Amino acid sequence: MYNLILFGPPGSGKGTQASLLVDKYDFLHISTGDMFREELSRNTPLGQEARSYMDAGHLVPDEVTIAMLRKRVDQHPDVTGIIFDGFPRTDPQAAELNELMQGRSSQINALILLDVDADTIVERILGRGATSGRADDLKEDVIRTRYENFVNYTSPVFDFYQNLGLAHRVDGTLTPEEVSREIDSIIGREMPAGQ
Ligand code: AP5
Repeated sequence: MYNLILFGPPGSGKGTQASLLVDKYDFLHISTGDMFREELSRNTPLGQEARSYMDAGHLVPDEVTIAMLRKRVDQHPDVTGIIFDGFPRTDPQAAELNELMQGRSSQINALILLDVDADTIVERILGRGATSGRADDLKEDVIRTRYENFVNYTSPVFDFYQNLGLAHRVDGTLTPEEVSREIDSIIGREMPAGQ
């Protein structure tokens, strides 16, 4: 099993790269943002709870996010690999993921940071705002709040994986194809033989 975390600020290209990876490697893609939006579209209590945080650009509380993630992972005991997109976003989420992987006699093999500056992010997200259907893509102040939350709460998670020797950094301002090639080369070096 090969488990990868795609990591980076909002709009850094996590979803774009996850789709390319799923095509190539047949991994399960778990995006906590997509899961919340799915709950929202079905108007579930979980979706309603998440909405106020998401619309303001804040993180949904850990206990809610972790319970949802754990359930999704448990639904897929036999996959060849998982791409985590947008999780973990806090130190408690990283600790929980570690425990979850141990419970599956597995581990996180790599975390890849897609490194993109704040101004590029604002430009990208405002550019897709009209068509994404996401309330959190429409206003620059909300996008900047999402970025600040990344810097304040999420970026320390990089250090957690760096201390384990699992963290990699890729220039996320390259073209999607170039970013994809960089990711492929990291996976190629890391993937256990036979997968
Ligand atoms: P989430 O859905 O995870 O959003 P995000 O992290 O803000 O990331 P995005 O989906 O906006 O961007 P992305 O990095 O996937 O980039 P994309 O490929 O789309 O989270 C939303 C909210 O849910 C959070 O704010 C929070 O409230 C909540 N949430 C989710 N997970 C949570 C958690 N674990 N804990 C607590 N709360 C949580 O690309 C962006 C744009 O750029 C696209 O238009 C794309 O075409 C373009 N693009 C992509 N790559 C390139 C490139 N290389 N060059 C040029 N353009 C590019």
